[in-house]
Amino acid sequence: MSQKHRLLANETWANSAQHAIGTYSRRQFARYLSFGAAMLATPGAFAEELMQTPGMAEGPFYPDKLPLDTDNDLLVINTAIRPAVGEITHLSGKILDERGQPVRSAFVEIWQCDNNGSYLHSSSSNRTKYDTNFQGYGRFMTDRQGRYYFRTIKPVPYPGRTPHIHFAVSHNGRRLLTTQMLIKGNPQNERDGLYRRIQDPEQRKLVLADFKPIPDSKLGELSAKFDLVLGHTPDENADQIKGGISQPLVQPG
Ligand SMILES: [Fe+2]
Repeated sequence: MSQKHRLLANETWANSAQHAIGTYSRRQFARYLSFGAAMLATPGAFAEELMQTPGMAEGPFYPDKLPLDTDNDLLVINTAIRPAVGEITHLSGKILDERGQPVRSAFVEIWQCDNNGSYLHSSSSNRTKYDTNFQGYGRFMTDRQGRYYFRTIKPVPYPGRTPHIHFAVSHNGRRLLTTQMLIKGNPQNERDGLYRRIQDPEQRKLVLADFKPIPDSKLGELSAKFDLVLGHTPDENADQIKGGISQPLVQPG
């Protein structure tokens, strides 16, 4: 917090404390005020540590050959006319550090199977039925407020797994978090082996996202919000590289 902001916060806080003075004795108020001032003088003292998003397995289907289009719209490949099949979902959220501060220039990758349960991967089952209009993978660099956005489909189940979207978050070329996002309230979650590996019920909540219908959407579009909390504050200038990716852009074959 800058000095100016701290002062403003102090003034605002003192004003609200003065409103409450009628119910406090003068001595109590003085104690209350000095406690508040001490808290404001300690950077981060009010910032409750956020629980870190638990990691989940990367799985075998990170694309072995990246698509020609790797933008954040997984529904349309380059200038194709036909969109992918599936329930259109606007997926957004923030990348935060454990103090709740936004992480900018975080490199967010997602990948998921198409509406038939097939991945953009040479050893995915059902590969011949892959929806060629589905991008299957996308990437986005977070803005100053740590925000990302993707347009994709609501994930569907495939044999052995509850519906999910894979996430990887990198910063300065280093992978900081690999996890998966599941659909909140989906009954298959409780039978999913990878989900059950997360034992703490509070941690489990951190990999669930609510898929909500967008009011008045003629196409029945959904929105899903999913924030990810990294385990430590990444140093943006650690190696003088901005952004970064988890795997080489050019892959053999
Ligand atoms: Fe998967």
